[in-house]
Order: sequence, then structure tokens, then C-alpha cells
Amino acid sequence: AAYTIVDQETCIACGACGATAPELFDYNDEGIAFAILDENKGLTEVPEDLEEDLEDAGEGCPTDSIKISSNPFICTPEKTL
Ligand code: F3S
Repeated sequence: AAYTIVDQETCIACGACGATAPELFDYNDEGIAFAILDENKGLTEVPEDLEEDLEDAGEGCPTDSIKISSNPFICTPEKTL
């Protein structure tokens, strides 16, 4: 299983993630990315067929802002939109 969340403190709105994984990442009005699945809560399991896109997006983010875990992101400070 994989879960993902964008650390919006470090995202520089470069836009790579949404290009790589358009079903997983979108941007807010400031261009800062968020995980589409559950509005950046990181509690919804990424569908298996999107896990490869997720890994590519994670590797492609210049600031390592895409956090990926095999567990849900519960009680993390990154849990904001
Ligand atoms: Fe931000 Fe990284 Fe995406 S900087 S816009 S999370 S590729």
C-alpha cells in the first residue's frame, strides 16, 4: 500500500508532479501542489495502478516535497491544504 502527501512548506510550485501524475497531484491558487485523493490528508490509499506514477513524481520533485509512505499520514504537521 502507498499513501502520499505534499509538504507544502517546501513545495516551490515547480509543477512537475502534476505533469507526471495528473491523477494524483493538482495545484492550489498559489500553484502549491496537493494530493488529489483526499485533499492532501494522506489517509487514502493510492490505487495500485497509480503507484508507479507516484514513485516517478516523488523522484521528480526537486525539493523532495512529495512524501510517500506505506502507512497513512496520521498526525503529521504536513497535513494542510
Ligand atoms: Fe511542488 Fe514538487 Fe510538485 S516542488 S509542485 S511538489 S514537483
